[in-house]
Amino acid sequence: MELSGKRIVVTGAAGFIGSNLTDKLLELGANVIGIDNLFNGRRSNLSNALKNTNFEFYKADVRDLNFLLDLFEDVNVIFHEAAFTSVPQSVMMPENCNDVNVNGIINILNAARKKDVENVVFASSSSVYGDTPTLPKKENMRRLPISPYGVSKLACEAYMQVYYHVYGIKTTTLRYFNVYGPRQRDSPYSGVIAIWLGNIIRDEDLVIFGDGKQSRDFTYVEDVLEANLLAMNNTYPGEIINIGAGSPITLNDLAHLMVKISGKTTLNIKHTDPRPGDIVHSFADISKARDILGFNPQYSQEQGLKEYFKWYSIKHNITLGIS
Ligand code: UD1
Repeated sequence: MELSGKRIVVTGAAGFIGSNLTDKLLELGANVIGIDNLFNGRRSNLSNALKNTNFEFYKADVRDLNFLLDLFEDVNVIFHEAAFTSVPQSVMMPENCNDVNVNGIINILNAARKKDVENVVFASSSSVYGDTPTLPKKENMRRLPISPYGVSKLACEAYMQVYYHVYGIKTTTLRYFNVYGPRQRDSPYSGVIAIWLGNIIRDEDLVIFGDGKQSRDFTYVEDVLEANLLAMNNTYPGEIINIGAGSPITLNDLAHLMVKISGKTTLNIKHTDPRPGDIVHSFADISKARDILGFNPQYSQEQGLKEYFKWYSIKHNITLGIS
């Protein structure tokens, strides 16, 4: 795919997914304008991008409509990755989660409408399904979010559809399923794979919330980037599309797999109380993504984890017995 001549905005550009997407778009020749309020994002994630003359970066917040109006002049595509991303933090601060996610998307869409941006691609979340029992999750299923975070993403999805139907902006909503990979933060509010990789590096035990029978469809970030690129040429605007690996794993199996890959088999796996707002099972039906976008995930969980471990060992110059 050749993107030279395209002006593309990435929000959350200094974050985990946004920075990987920024690098990919620059590789393909696009002019990329990144914004991030640097609340969760880190400038260091953009160290390569900042050397590229096709990249501009602004420390700014998606809640600042006037800033967005200036920024979106002559822009072709917006990838909206900026978000309040933590389920447990949303349980503690529902109003902040709503403010960032819902007011954020309204601003993005309003500015896009006023500046005639053709295409908006949005990072939604499998958390909108909540704890409905049917698996795998299909896009047209009932959605019953069980966290403020899930509610906020559901509201964003509805706005994406309305802005297509009412104002004609070509919107594509990608419902991500547990994305992991290089640059994901290792903090208590980060994704479990990043937390456990940090534990493994520091020779700490891995902690599972609950009995570990809950499952997730962990998706390697490279596959998510591919989905975003495909979404630029989506000929079914207004749609919501699951993006997952399409193969779930329990938390118990994940912990054992991560320990095995690292070679640190003496580490213990412990259990503690379940986490409030946690859904039990999450598994994507990706047939719509295959049909509409031609999406075909390339990384099994084991392959993705190995790639992530390799990246980490090179970056931090440490030896992990990847097996
Ligand atoms: C994650 C994302 C969210 C995204 C959603 C769907 C993060 C922080 N959250 O939510 O933005 O929308 O996927 O794509 O990336 N767990 C443990 N031990 C730990 C940490 C977590 O057992 O130390 C368990 C949790 O209880 C949960 C599972 O691991 O059952 C996954 O948790 P987490 O990685 O936080 O992801 P989600 O809550 O699914």
